[in-house]
Amino acid sequence: MFGLVLIPALFISVLGSGPPGIKALVKEFLAFAESWSTKNATGKIVDYVVKEAANLDDTIPQPYADELRGIANATGLPLGEVVIYNLFYELFTVCTSIVAQDPNGKLYHARNLDFGLFLGWNTKTHQWMVTDLLRPLIVNLDFQKGGKTAYKSVNFAGYVGILTAIKPKLFTLSMNERFKLDGGEIGIIEWILGIRTGKWMGFLTRETMENAGSFDQAMSMLSNTEMLAPAYFILGGNTTGQGAVITRSREKTDDVWNMKDAGGWYILETNYDHWDAPLFLDDRRTPANNCMQKMKHENVKLPRIFDVLSSRPVLNKLTTYTALMQVDEGHLESWLQYCPDPCWPF
Ligand SMILES: *[C@@H]1O[C@H](CO)[C@@H](O)[C@H](O)[C@H]1NC(C)=O
Ligand SMILES: *[C@@H]1O[C@H](CO)[C@@H](O)[C@H](O)[C@H]1NC(C)=O
Ligand SMILES: *[C@@H]1O[C@H](CO)[C@@H](O)[C@H](O)[C@H]1NC(C)=O
Repeated sequence: MFGLVLIPALFISVLGSGPPGIKALVKEFLAFAESWSTKNATGKIVDYVVKEAANLDDTIPQPYADELRGIANATGLPLGEVVIYNLFYELFTVCTSIVAQDPNGKLYHARNLDFGLFLGWNTKTHQWMVTDLLRPLIVNLDFQKGGKTAYKSVNFAGYVGILTAIKPKLFTLSMNERFKLDGGEIGIIEWILGIRTGKWMGFLTRETMENAGSFDQAMSMLSNTEMLAPAYFILGGNTTGQGAVITRSREKTDDVWNMKDAGGWYILETNYDHWDAPLFLDDRRTPANNCMQKMKHENVKLPRIFDVLSSRPVLNKLTTYTALMQVDEGHLESWLQYCPDPCWPF
């Protein structure tokens, strides 16, 4: 049995304190889902999900089902709302991820996690409400097995999936949202209606962290499993040249892009297919690439990559944290990020 030694205690301490915490966030998510579901012929999805919680819960595999129950217990939220809270991370994770190697071939992996687009803008503070609510919930987790670290992640308290993680000495992983017509909404509606072949992205990434023993195994797991929503997986290995972006649709892998084809010493992904131009309104890719070129190969190290991720508009008002990882040292650090005016909203 995989020991979630740290999680319950951590979650309870964060959930129990934390202004204004997970409950306020769930309220925002439900309001959004409600506004969206009334536009849709499938009806009141939110009511349905919340009511059917016990039923939904039976279809969520272990150990996640028990963890969701534990979170419902610790927060006092209905199980259905905890399920919805967890589903939202499948959909709204707008980000920038970079894997880079220094001239000695040492690998670094870093990411910004931007979250909260369209989920409510505070006209007084000029900040996204959800992004503000999320920052206090950021926790670094240490997943242990037999008393030893198996992998480490940066999480939002109450979320049981994985968006950013390191398996020391073996590989590093981050996930970025991919917008697509056959997008997550359809997968999620299907899942609610009982067509449950696709896996939650956050469970796939977590199982990859638990079970993959190498960069290649991680690549294979992330490439070959049907999912609820499309995604980009950014994977770093422990050997020179091991950096890749896996472009996923729900059913299959559309593309695997390797660091050597991306420019040699680094690979960078935001939320657009690398072979297409980014949306002109949301081009974080060009500025990030310019910053990497300016930094130069010989200067690759975490503080310099942090600078790239802290430059506007790569840093924007949706940015909740920057995470920095170095695989050989098993190093993971995370920084809360704020972007005061003047700053691009996304
Ligand atoms: C409801 O959502 C489904 C799936 O996204 C879509 O096919 C359908 O057209 C939507 N209906 C309405 C009325 O928007
Ligand atoms: C949480 O679980 C404990 C032990 O089973 C129970 O006594 C308590 O009532 C539960 N609390 C909530 C809020 O469900
Ligand atoms: C790198 O990963 C491989 C598995 O792909 C592992 O066998 C090897 O020990 C790792 N190298 C180091 C230096 O940890």
